[in-house]
Amino acid sequence: MKSLDSYSAYFPGCLMFGSGSRKEVPGLFDKLCGRGGRVFGVFSNSVLQSVRGRELKELMGGRLVGYYSSVPHDPPVEYVDEIIGRIRKTDANAVLAVGGGSVMDSAKTAALLTCGDGCTSDYLMGRLAVPTRSLPVVALPSTAGTGAEMTKNAVLTDHQNNVKKSLRSPLMIPKAAVVDPELTLGLPFAVTRDSGLDALTQAIESCVSTGATRLTRAMAREAVLLLMTYLEKACRDGDNLEYRERVAEGSMICGLAFGQSGLGAVHGLAHPLGHLLGVPHGLACAILLPYILEWNLPVAEDEFAILGGMCGVGDGAAFVAAVEQLCRRLQVPEGFSGYGLKADHYDYIIANCRSGSMKANPRAMTDDDVRELLTRLNG
Ligand SMILES: [Fe+2]
Repeated sequence: MKSLDSYSAYFPGCLMFGSGSRKEVPGLFDKLCGRGGRVFGVFSNSVLQSVRGRELKELMGGRLVGYYSSVPHDPPVEYVDEIIGRIRKTDANAVLAVGGGSVMDSAKTAALLTCGDGCTSDYLMGRLAVPTRSLPVVALPSTAGTGAEMTKNAVLTDHQNNVKKSLRSPLMIPKAAVVDPELTLGLPFAVTRDSGLDALTQAIESCVSTGATRLTRAMAREAVLLLMTYLEKACRDGDNLEYRERVAEGSMICGLAFGQSGLGAVHGLAHPLGHLLGVPHGLACAILLPYILEWNLPVAEDEFAILGGMCGVGDGAAFVAAVEQLCRRLQVPEGFSGYGLKADHYDYIIANCRSGSMKANPRAMTDDDVRELLTRLNG
């Protein structure tokens, strides 16, 4: 049961935040697994090629018994199966994930499903119940935005069944989340913008989600303030550690919040749109965000006014306008026509947007409302 006065919350057992915190990771594994830790690494390619990524690999020493670094965006189930096979082959008993949301989601899923008998699609499509135990995961985000280091779900793609959806289990929450903002130094403008606007979307959606509680709102509001204050600065001056720290912190805090509260219509629609058009998740969210804020304003005016006051921009309508202006300044496109959205796609999107996120949106959208929105997004 969940209401404003009665709720439960799931968090990682250990949270480390701060520049240089990656250096604590080998010691964390020793605490989790004892000296016999056999760790399988799932890395993004860019992390493996970076100085800090190579340094982390060296610090892990003999604990690291194998690694995988070919995870694509919106990880297809076959890739997770491949990681599971390698974990078993190396007889690993723990998993290290260093990368963006796709890397962390793949690693979390593989650590759980390694303890079962089926293939990833069996669990994603509900043919099998997820295992009741998981290998421990330590997750280090290398982008600031997805919050996957905090959450109990993973977004996966199953091309055979033509879906992109979440697999969920409280066991998927990493045992430890280590957020080291230095890993985000120097990320390109587009990656910083897309992942940061994903975080901002998640923070705002968490504030007004039907699953929001006082606990999640307190965190999500702080995340909104940090991201509204520092995201544009981090996009424009990507080598500034202070900006990177505040954005990474905002993203981390928002992950703690939305992992409990759920999200809203931006995420409900971003999944089928992103799957269909191949638009990166963060950018799909950023394109949708101003439209959904405007849709939600009549029922979320009080909360948006609180956010507007915190950010120093004015009332609820002024907050919505400030978010839209931020998106325009950061060159977010105003719709999906440039990505090949066609009227033929609407039925697929309508049929596939009814996820938990859509249900948590504070103002319900009928199929006709979604169709009208898609027409505007295609203008
Ligand atoms: Fe997201």
